Amino acid sequence: RKRYSMNTLSDKLLVWYNRNKRDLPWRHTSDPYAILVSEIMLQQTRVDTVISYYNRFLERFPTAASLAQAEEDEVLNLWKGLGYYSRARNLHKAAKVIAQEYQGNFPSVLDQVRKLPGVGDYTAGAIMSIAFRQPYPAVDGNVLRVIARIFGIEDDITTSEARKTITGIVRGMIPIEHAGDFTQTLMELGATVCTPSAPLCENCPVSGDCRAFLEQKTELLPVKQKKLKPQTQRFYALLLLDG
Ligand code: ADE
Repeated sequence: RKRYSMNTLSDKLLVWYNRNKRDLPWRHTSDPYAILVSEIMLQQTRVDTVISYYNRFLERFPTAASLAQAEEDEVLNLWKGLGYYSRARNLHKAAKVIAQEYQGNFPSVLDQVRKLPGVGDYTAGAIMSIAFRQPYPAVDGNVLRVIARIFGIEDDITTSEARKTITGIVRGMIPIEHAGDFTQTLMELGATVCTPSAPLCENCPVSGDCRAFLEQKTELLPVKQKKLKPQTQRFYALLLLDG
């Protein structure tokens, strides 16, 4: 029997995604290794910048096995300009783990994916949902903002409690047959419509369901504790040289 009323919020979001998603290279694959590369690059770098790096990286290292065999220098060289080089080192290490511990077969169990170097809760959820089509939530900054606004969550999203609350909400919203698309839907909405300031609510498929929009609180949500300013500390060091 068909369900007509459940999940209308998720359905509206998915329909919007299918009509409006950007054509990005990692949206043409379900290879978990390629998804890993894309998600690691996207962790701290904008989509526009990542595209060419992603294409070059996969051309040179099309499989985890090929990356596992590379010299670190070559990996870092391909990463030049992306910054946050520990990401490249961890990706290289992850490829070695996949080659050595999993005989080149990318692990498909959440706990195993989560333990790969450089893979946190967010990246593990993204890989499980996008590559393996499993209903795991992937909560990044975009998703925290989108969900906090739709549900009118006033908790500070930098706290682990708020993250837990929002992760639970997302888990309950995942359309079982479209887990990967749903993960990318929330990111896409956050990146293109539900932006941090001046969100484009007139283009949003769920503005009618959005507490922040309905209560004119889009500029107030999400609540986010500002990072404390770094403090300068001055101290002396004494170096004793023998001879
Ligand atoms: N940011 C993080 N993951 C992404 C993805 N898969 N597509 C677009 N932006 C993203």
